[in-house]
Amino acid sequence: MNQADLAVLNCSQLLTCRSSTSKRRDALQDVGLLENACIASLKGKIVFIGDEEDFSHEIQMLDAGVCIDGKGLVGIPGFVDSHTHLPFAGTREHEFVLRLKGHTYQQLAQKGLGIQTTVNATRKASEQELLSLCLSRLDSMLLHGTTTTEAKSGYGLNLDDELKQLRVLKEADRIHPIDIVSTFMGAHEVPKEYKGRKNEYINLIIQKILPEVKKNNLAEFFDVFCEEGVYSVDETRDLVRAAKACGLKIKIHADEFEPLGGSQLAAEEGATSVDHLTAITEEGIKKIVQSETVATLLPGVSFFLMQEKKAPARKLIEEGAIVAVATDFNPGSSMTESMYFILQLAVFTLKMGIEEAINAATVNASYALGRSDQVGSLELEKKMDLILFDAPNYPSLVYHLGVNPIKHVIKNGQIVVQEGKILGRSADPC
Ligand code: NIG
Ligand code: FE
Repeated sequence: MNQADLAVLNCSQLLTCRSSTSKRRDALQDVGLLENACIASLKGKIVFIGDEEDFSHEIQMLDAGVCIDGKGLVGIPGFVDSHTHLPFAGTREHEFVLRLKGHTYQQLAQKGLGIQTTVNATRKASEQELLSLCLSRLDSMLLHGTTTTEAKSGYGLNLDDELKQLRVLKEADRIHPIDIVSTFMGAHEVPKEYKGRKNEYINLIIQKILPEVKKNNLAEFFDVFCEEGVYSVDETRDLVRAAKACGLKIKIHADEFEPLGGSQLAAEEGATSVDHLTAITEEGIKKIVQSETVATLLPGVSFFLMQEKKAPARKLIEEGAIVAVATDFNPGSSMTESMYFILQLAVFTLKMGIEEAINAATVNASYALGRSDQVGSLELEKKMDLILFDAPNYPSLVYHLGVNPIKHVIKNGQIVVQEGKILGRSADPC
């Protein structure tokens, strides 16, 4: 008999999303649905998935173990949010109001607003202030089902403030139940003090900031905003190669507004993921399909920026790309911490099927973070990261809008959200 310290019994529907590889095409239709299933874990790792009879024969609950009645609940793997700009200070309601009056996101950026506004606020914030902002946003993420998240720097744009953002992420990862995967994104914009001297800033990143990030073990990934007016394909290639030489894995913000060809570059350079893709070309799609690079779509951005044009999710799936979805949580183009909302947007705005969207927010997203051995699906020996929805069936997760039916969230085998409330995290450090 195996021992367990946590079990969910008779879950009305349990979606395992299990798979030995990332999911493409028809595999995206399969969510590994089990009815009236039991799942159990010991010390954070899944030790059993099956029916009640097998559970009673195979599992012995420890005396201090906890059992949750899963009747009336739908269980799915904790969401993996593979693209966020979490450590920022200040918000941008003023620019949002200007956008509602007809100014575009790019026009605001050209006027020195946009990312630069958040850079100013983030540079001014102390490490402690930034940490406390991150922790409350992480709580919000957890309440909406995220159990693993990526988080980027990129609002410091100088040595001290980029490192400050990354140190905050390291500390937040230590304190908060959500696992954080850090990305160094010094090439998010060209800082205003380097206007007209972009090459010098690129050299600063390559020669000074990257080696410091590496030396202090502050990031696992490197990301660049490859876009008209920001970093060209050639500049992105130079940056990416320098980051790879430092041992970092690669993500690229590509083909968001203009089809520069960042997608092709991402495939050629073996990027772990390429993100946005609203303006991706046929050639870009072909290259991504032939690669292991995950196409991460960000439906929150096209929704928030009220763009007619959307990422071609159907085409990417039908051609065979590995498609994931993420929030792109940031104050300018996607002010939401909720992967649950993104799941719904993926269906309503990108025309993804419900099963496709669930796989894209869980198992495929774990490939976008290189964490598929640990999270993203419910399988023996993986982390017990589970969302339990108070819902009659899994299509209801997308069908029922504007409410949060998440009843419990389990992270690493611990109940961290119970009856819709965060369970005690020790108070923020003062
Ligand atoms: O992914 N595209 C570039 N970066 C972010 C936006 C950041 C901001 O506006 O503050 C994005 O959409
Ligand atoms: Fe982004």
